[in-house]
Amino acid sequence: MSAARVRIGSNEALFRSMHRHYCDDPHTVPPWDRFDAGSLTDSVREELRRAWSARVVAEYRSMVVFSELIARLPEAGLPLEVSCAASRLLSDEARHVDLCANLADRLGGSADATVSRADLRFSDEGLSAELFVARWTLSMMCVGECASVALLRALADAAEDPCVSQVLDTLYRDEVLHDRFGWALAREIVPALNEEQREWLSADLAFSFAHYDRIHGRRMRKDGDALPEAKTRTDGGDQLGLVAPETYARAWYQRLDTVILPGIRSLGLAANEAWALRNEAAAVLDQR
Ligand SMILES: [Fe+2]
Ligand SMILES: [Fe+2]
Repeated sequence: MSAARVRIGSNEALFRSMHRHYCDDPHTVPPWDRFDAGSLTDSVREELRRAWSARVVAEYRSMVVFSELIARLPEAGLPLEVSCAASRLLSDEARHVDLCANLADRLGGSADATVSRADLRFSDEGLSAELFVARWTLSMMCVGECASVALLRALADAAEDPCVSQVLDTLYRDEVLHDRFGWALAREIVPALNEEQREWLSADLAFSFAHYDRIHGRRMRKDGDALPEAKTRTDGGDQLGLVAPETYARAWYQRLDTVILPGIRSLGLAANEAWALRNEAAAVLDQR
């Protein structure tokens, strides 16, 4: 599968100035000259570089999702205000790519921030616009963005570098809005679906849970277990945007229990059943 580096930089002055305008205004630009990774060992610096580079790809993918979602909002019968509000999310994700790439570059480079062409669009499998929008709203926003709020909070609480703190604050503030947008959009679209579509959505959620439980929770908590205990890193990584896996997993499971599952249940979908089926779904995903 061909892959391309996340491309940042244009020869056209108009694109550059518009991009800077949407990225920087009205956000606080991080004090880049105060970034300091000098006290880290090479291996921690490399771990951080890889983490920020991976975030470049994740944020870029979020931008792609929103592009596809925005394209189908009118077809799904949603009002102009929804399209307008969604377009703000698109430029927010571009800002996040920009910020994460800047940090990765300061840590040694973001050349490994590549995405395959296949990952740059969703297959809609012939879904109606209503179901397409509902599916990605639930998966990417009510689960993905909603989790991000708690995960970024955990990272921001631990970060001490002024530059990284500012980047995480900006990401956090934007994601809080994205989270609210996702639930509002879900409330617009899910109640209008018929019983068959809602069943399909509930079943599809198991795949979403499988995906996020793998990347955020590392499947650390079995059903019935207590939350993983948060741990503090002693190698300085948490000051620049990396916390211990247990701390990260704890934030994920806490958000899942208190916001994500209740929120999806309140939409009339079988959230708990989907969560219970995540391991079966993960087995299917592993075979793909
Ligand atoms: Fe983002
Ligand atoms: Fe987002």
